[in-house]
Amino acid sequence: MIIKPRVRGFICLTAHPEGCEKNVTNQIDFTKSKGEIADGPKNVLVIGASTGFGLASRIVSAFGSDSSTIGVFFEKPPMEGKPATPGWYNTVAFEKEAHAKGLYAKSINGDAFSNEIKQKTIDLIKSDLKKIDLVIYSLASPRKVHPDTQQVYNSVIKPIGKTFENKTVDFHSGTVSNVVIEPCTEEEVNNTIEVMGGDDWERWIDVLKKEDVLSPECLTVAYSYVGPEVTTPIYRNGSIGRAKDHLEQSAFKISEKLKDIDGKAYVSVNKALVTQASSAIPVIPLYISLLYKAMKEEGVHEGCIEQIYRLFETKLFSGEIPTDEKGRIRIDDWEMRPDIQEKVSQLWDKVTTENIGEIADLEGYRNDFFKLFGFGYDSIDYDVEVNELQEIPG
Ligand code: NAD
Ligand code: NA
Repeated sequence: MIIKPRVRGFICLTAHPEGCEKNVTNQIDFTKSKGEIADGPKNVLVIGASTGFGLASRIVSAFGSDSSTIGVFFEKPPMEGKPATPGWYNTVAFEKEAHAKGLYAKSINGDAFSNEIKQKTIDLIKSDLKKIDLVIYSLASPRKVHPDTQQVYNSVIKPIGKTFENKTVDFHSGTVSNVVIEPCTEEEVNNTIEVMGGDDWERWIDVLKKEDVLSPECLTVAYSYVGPEVTTPIYRNGSIGRAKDHLEQSAFKISEKLKDIDGKAYVSVNKALVTQASSAIPVIPLYISLLYKAMKEEGVHEGCIEQIYRLFETKLFSGEIPTDEKGRIRIDDWEMRPDIQEKVSQLWDKVTTENIGEIADLEGYRNDFFKLFGFGYDSIDYDVEVNELQEIPG
């Protein structure tokens, strides 16, 4: 079929297999250009492995450290005349490249919150890899069906206690406007913690350990975010921030549980980037457009793959793992540099619909957004038929 972008607000309903393949091969090429990570992982499980930071983690593991990888994710397969979601095509491309290099790579598509998918993953590890030495937890989900009670929880992105009002941008039109978001209820906070807190990460590690598929000295890492002052009321001090607090606390709990096998759990605070998860959050796209401008000007801009390669090379596998006062790895260090934040904050005060084209990197934002779905590559002819019915090799 001929596949063109079909955008509805902050999501795109279509994805292009060749463009997604390009996203993956570009990340593989970057990883190869950086070279082998000394003392990197060997058998890696990535939960949330099909897009964003999780996909980058899988690529760095495989192509920067020759790792065998198992990827878990929740993607829609293609149907006749209806393309799959991007993570599906990303995985098709990833497995193809990994297998061509002689690397083990298998994937499980289903709900990571469920007991069934956890069991399936364990069965696969037992039959193929035996033990895992790195577990990356990179889920971003708006909802969770509780594995024991089947109760459904929905996460919200709202401030706590006080109405939030600030600038935001419609990144398609470039219109800057004010957004007003009413505070959430206590129940919404708790639901958000259920979905995006550390409960499921802990469940994964509990069951992996109980089934004896974790290597001695194994590591597990989950991803968090802190961000600037302008987004603090809606992000870090809001409902989602409470879930991130919970996730960060879970790292200590999990480390305690892994003590007897000398394992450790860490949270890495990553940089703000355009992903399907972040484009849905109000205010963040405007912040990211200004941040991209400032970071590109200073020559310190990174995408998911640059972030994760640097995380592996300079933090996770470089001997002593450096952390902040809260025990977190900070790979958002360049985003949070005072000169970068000062610049963003000055631009933030000035930005309007009229000047956003000049003072923000809105074009960079849009390009990254369309690339998430495989669109916007000059080297691809989007008027040509492409096979939408691609299967993950397995
Ligand atoms: P993403 O949307 O690109 O990736 C989410 C992944 O989770 C996908 O692989 C998806 O298939 C999978 N997933 C979602 N629900 C699932 C389910 N029920 N079962 C199995 N898999 C499921 O998101 P991302 O931006 O890469 O986010 C990953 C983590 O990084 C999140 O914890 C996020 O908060 C964090 N983070 C993101 C940013 C950012 O700016 N994007 C910054 C710092 C930290
Ligand atoms: Na991810």
